Amino acid sequence: KPRVLTGITTTGTPHLGNYVGAIRPAIAESLSNDQDSFFFLADYHALIKCQDPAAVHQSAREIAATWLALGLDTDRCTFYRQSDVPEITELTWVLNCICAKGLMNRSHAYKAAVQDNEEKSEDADFGVTMGLFSYPVLMAADILMFNAQRVPVGRDQIQHIEMARDMAQRFNHIYGDTFSLPEAVVDENIALLNGLDGRKMSKSYGNTIPLFLGEKQLKKHINKIKTNLLEPGEPKDPDTSTVFQIWTAFATPEQTADMRSQFEQGIAWGEAKKALFELINSEVAEARTRYNEILEDGAYLDAELKKGAEKARAHAAPMLAKVRSAVGLAKFG
Ligand code: TYM
Repeated sequence: KPRVLTGITTTGTPHLGNYVGAIRPAIAESLSNDQDSFFFLADYHALIKCQDPAAVHQSAREIAATWLALGLDTDRCTFYRQSDVPEITELTWVLNCICAKGLMNRSHAYKAAVQDNEEKSEDADFGVTMGLFSYPVLMAADILMFNAQRVPVGRDQIQHIEMARDMAQRFNHIYGDTFSLPEAVVDENIALLNGLDGRKMSKSYGNTIPLFLGEKQLKKHINKIKTNLLEPGEPKDPDTSTVFQIWTAFATPEQTADMRSQFEQGIAWGEAKKALFELINSEVAEARTRYNEILEDGAYLDAELKKGAEKARAHAAPMLAKVRSAVGLAKFG
């Protein structure tokens, strides 16, 4: 069985982009019997972007509740919190010691943050931290610890998986065959979903549509999706429209073909958005009810994550022992 692993950073509330790009395909795969899946909450990664403890805590709760509400079967996969598996941060240090600094300099996320920081005033908050710089090393440890072969992610994460692969190769070259080489799995049919302003939907742009908004709020958010000023009756270009792009992510191929022709016939924006609301709402309504119940049930969340951490550590502890021994940190006796 191939080992599949993916994570989600616990900052903010899960949004339609995370759902379509990561959570929905991961859960679908977890229900199939022919693979061994690891899904986790990247809560140490969260500290890079968020230094508000209450927000970090709340986000992990919301994301855990989201996966469980959507039907993740924790008996068939391993579902855990990164920070519950201390072996991962130990491995991070070892990887830090073989990872070239130059490799990290090339990270898109790091370069974007440096540029952002230069544009801000000098007393702008905390700027670029070591955590941000070495973010891909922690991510490599997440992946290599479990010898994951397939890492399903959105396109924005491909570079990080390639870096993990580089680190695995370098480690294997120096210390002997230890890690499997991971591969990013990007579903070509899944676009990076755009947000309210037409840029990639992202917590850092503040343009997201949270997945489990109540109906009224969901409608309100969808109405805020930026559109051009074409009037009802004027043909609209589906291929440059965020409304159409999100539609595609939720619709069947027939529904998509139908909406395409409605765009060409000049459907009013209000009507297209109403249809989009109904489509999304019908997919998420049931899970939303379960989500709201689970969110209140801290004991259930803790029990699920404890079970996951135990399963994850059963893999991580022997793997770390192997790594320690490979680098010269074995016992004496
Ligand atoms: P994160 O939390 O930014 O995103 C989680 C997953 O959601 C995908 N995604 C999207 N997909 C489609 N449209 C969007 N607008 C959109 N926004 C986000 C991301 O591609 C990702 O797959 N570093 C990772 C978390 C991580 C990880 C790992 C992933 C930590 N360790 C090990 C895989 C393996 C991150 O910040 O994802």
